[in-house]
Parts: sequence; C-alpha cells; structure tokens
Amino acid sequence: MEVVNMLEIENLEVGYGTIKALHGVSLRVNQGSIVTLIGANGAGKSTTLRAISGLIKARGGKVRYDGEDITNLPPHAIVARGLCHVPEGRMVFANLTVEENLRMGAYLRKDKPGVAADMEFGYEMFPRLRERRHQAAGTMSGGEQQMLAIARAIMSKPRCLMLDEPSLGIAPILVRSIFEQIVAINKARGITILLVEQNANLALAVSHHGYVLETGKVLFDDTSAALRTNPQVRAAYLGG
Ligand SMILES: Nc1ncnc2c1ncn2[C@@H]1O[C@H](COP(=O)(O)OP(=O)(O)O)[C@@H](O)[C@H]1O
Ligand SMILES: [Mg+2]
Repeated sequence: MEVVNMLEIENLEVGYGTIKALHGVSLRVNQGSIVTLIGANGAGKSTTLRAISGLIKARGGKVRYDGEDITNLPPHAIVARGLCHVPEGRMVFANLTVEENLRMGAYLRKDKPGVAADMEFGYEMFPRLRERRHQAAGTMSGGEQQMLAIARAIMSKPRCLMLDEPSLGIAPILVRSIFEQIVAINKARGITILLVEQNANLALAVSHHGYVLETGKVLFDDTSAALRTNPQVRAAYLGG
C-alpha cells in the first residue's frame, strides 16, 4: 500500500498569552493508521489537537491535511474537510437526547440514507447508546458520554478523527469497549486516527506509531512496538 501523509505537522508553535505551550512540534499521521500522542499532564497534547483543528491559533509552523495547508483555517472549514476533533471532557449536549446528539453530528450532511446508516453503525458499535437513545445525554455516565461523543463524531463522516483522552475518568470495563471500537472504526471504516492519551500502555497497544511529548517538544518518535520496549519510555510512561 502506498503510504500517504494524511496529516503533517511541521514545527508547530502555540502559546497562551505569554506562556509557550508548543515549541516546534512535528508529527506525521499516515492515511489509514492509528497514531498516538502520549505524554504527562501539561505536555501540550490537547494544545496540539486544538491547533490542528483551528480552535487556537498557531504562532508558527504548518498544518497540512490531505496535502493542503490548513494552518489557522477556521474550525468549521476544517471539520468540513473531514477532520473531526473529539475534545477532552467529551462535551456532549447534556439536555439533548442521545439520538438528538447524533443528529447534531450530521448537521452538515444532506444524504439522509447515509446519515441513517451511520446512526445504525453507532448503535451497533455501542449498544448502550441504542438502549439510551431517548435519554438526556447529561444523565449518562462518563463512559457512556464518551461513547456518544465518538459516535457523534462518526456522524460527520470524518476521514480523520482526533480523540483527546477517551479513557480519562472512565470505568475500566467501558475503557476496554471504547478502545475496541476505536480499533474497529479504523479497520472497518478506514478512518485515520490521531489518539491523545495519558494512558500510554493502552494507547501504544492499539496504535501503529507513537510520539512522546514532553513540555511542548517531541521527545520520542517511533513505532508503537518500539516505544513499548524503549527503556526510557518504559521507565517514565509505562510504569517500568
Ligand atoms: N487555556 C489555557 N490558558 C493558559 N495556559 C494553558 C491553557 N491551556 C493549556 N495551557 C498550558 O499549556 C500547556 C499545555 O497544556 P495542554 O495542551 O492542555 O497539555 P496536555 O493536554 O498534554 O495535558 C500547559 O502548560 C498548560 O498549563
Ligand atoms: Mg489534555
């Protein structure tokens, strides 16, 4: 298979006021792969995703998606190209039902049969969502809301999905189911995935390639298999 860079970040620099959060981050995500970005709290993982999806301005560097420069385009223009970001903390519409949330994810689409099929796909992925389809999203558990956030993202028909800490604060049994479905989304739909995680063990187990971020810089860039056996990575991120 020809290797195509779906996402290419070059020397990205981002700051909040006078605080510099990213000091020239470069990374690549090949089409069809799962790439993970791991690192401690505050390393700059979320900032990287926010800059890619246009939620925060890059002060320097480039973001290329599908061969085109998308640096600092407005978020809606980036979503419209099929690059979808599931932010940290899930952010589902608490007062809307599960099904209403899913429909919101498809608001840019006109292909009704496709929308219905993708909703069915979401319910097959996460049967809990089907059971709760008329329930207000805000009344569900954190893990169920994470499932909804992922299923809603699929409703926008992304070609590339960025997930920010899908395991954060979620019961282990639901984490396993969510990670199985992340792999299934990648395999069954060919959706390219950039996965941000503090849970490095989990993220490296499901991804092809990984980057370790430390205080706004890439410290390691390797296959996930190699990172899992790298002594420094093991000591600092995998619990020895
Ligand atoms: N809204 C913000 N205002 C000011 N500083 C921020 C803001 N968000 C993040 N930061 C700072 O930017 C750095 C990177 O944060 P973040 O990208 O959230 O890290 P991670 O997602 O890896 O935990 C940290 O030093 C953090 O304190
Ligand atoms: Mg974060």
